[in-house]
Amino acid sequence: MNLDNKAREILRQNDKGGYTLPTHGLYPYQWNWDSAFAAWGFATFDLPRAWDEFDTLFASQWDTGMVPHIIFHEPDPGYFPGPDVWATGQSPETSGITQPPVAATLARQVWEMDKTAGQNRLAKLYPKMVAWHRWWHHVRCIHGPAAITHPWESGRDNCPDWDIGMAGVDGSGVGDYTRRDTGHVDPSMRPTKAEYDRYIAMVQFGVSVGWDQSRIVADGPFLMADPGITFILLRAHEDLIVLGDALGEDTTEIAGWARSLRAALPQIWNPDLKAYDARNLRDGQFAGVLGSGAFLAYLADAGNPDLNAQLARVWDAVQYGIPSADPQSPMFDPRKYWRGPTWPVVNALMAIGLRDSGRSDLEARLRRETAQLIQKHGFFEYFDPIDSTPCGGDDFTWTAAIWLTWAGNDLEQAKGAA
Ligand code: DGY
Repeated sequence: MNLDNKAREILRQNDKGGYTLPTHGLYPYQWNWDSAFAAWGFATFDLPRAWDEFDTLFASQWDTGMVPHIIFHEPDPGYFPGPDVWATGQSPETSGITQPPVAATLARQVWEMDKTAGQNRLAKLYPKMVAWHRWWHHVRCIHGPAAITHPWESGRDNCPDWDIGMAGVDGSGVGDYTRRDTGHVDPSMRPTKAEYDRYIAMVQFGVSVGWDQSRIVADGPFLMADPGITFILLRAHEDLIVLGDALGEDTTEIAGWARSLRAALPQIWNPDLKAYDARNLRDGQFAGVLGSGAFLAYLADAGNPDLNAQLARVWDAVQYGIPSADPQSPMFDPRKYWRGPTWPVVNALMAIGLRDSGRSDLEARLRRETAQLIQKHGFFEYFDPIDSTPCGGDDFTWTAAIWLTWAGNDLEQAKGAA
């Protein structure tokens, strides 16, 4: 089967009717940023279905404006931690944390594919996206850059960026539990038991304060500035302004959020590392590691010559795509989830930034290398950036989506010309 057809088939197979699973087995619910990518993918062949995906995601927005990271539509014993562990009391049940706010950026991509057809759908979605961004600004940007209260919020769950924050979390009292992720994929490609104990300890803290954000931010076990989310949010604010203007809305408030977030960028620039860097907001310490979140700076037009040099260094050290961690660091592990592998979905986000900042040669290289991985092995969750070994889950929604919207584009053109 040709890869375009296969990608569409994956989206259809993972479609649960209005929302899409990231993949069967490993992730049996609706995940926040996965869902926004699914919408982008659906938009290439079924625009109404793309807008439906945003609608089901935002239907579970909390009264506070937060959009949760998982929506537990139907019970599934194959996933841990499930709704009983999160105990958020939402209906349908959800987790108590959020995920990277890519929705406005990808909703803009979808809207631009057919502005006339999308206008009414966008008008319905827009105030919900504004409410989510307002939550980010008032709850999570109070220190300047965007803060996360759990590594899972970053979407880059176990990347080395979070090690200093994780070291301060006590996972010793979480009690017994059975992980399910390691039953679906090779455990050596997943986070460790010590990491999982700490993840669960953070969830238990949230439950103990009734998911009160002010208490989690003030006293929770983990609070770090995330360069990845900071750049994603900054870009998303700017995309939301474009969408708001198109709807005739007053976007002054959003422009203020974007200005103050941009003004906070020097706080996450580590002069010793010569790169953007995660920072522990409890004590100001920099993580001192170069992760893929730093390169999302291009998405928010926040690149600079030092960062360009770092990008060239880490990219040239591997064969395929931009690695999630620095290949020249002792922490680099090319098959371990976010500690080294290349992620097609992150490559696609970086590509938007590279293209928009005029680096079309780099964008083309990234597209070619990402396409090679998918052509060789299929639509996996992530890949070893040195020898291309496929890792994590297979038939992955967001890998299929970015094939249709971006990575497969060259091939489409080649076919068209043939
Ligand atoms: C998982 O279960 O691994 C997810 O990344 C948490 O959202």
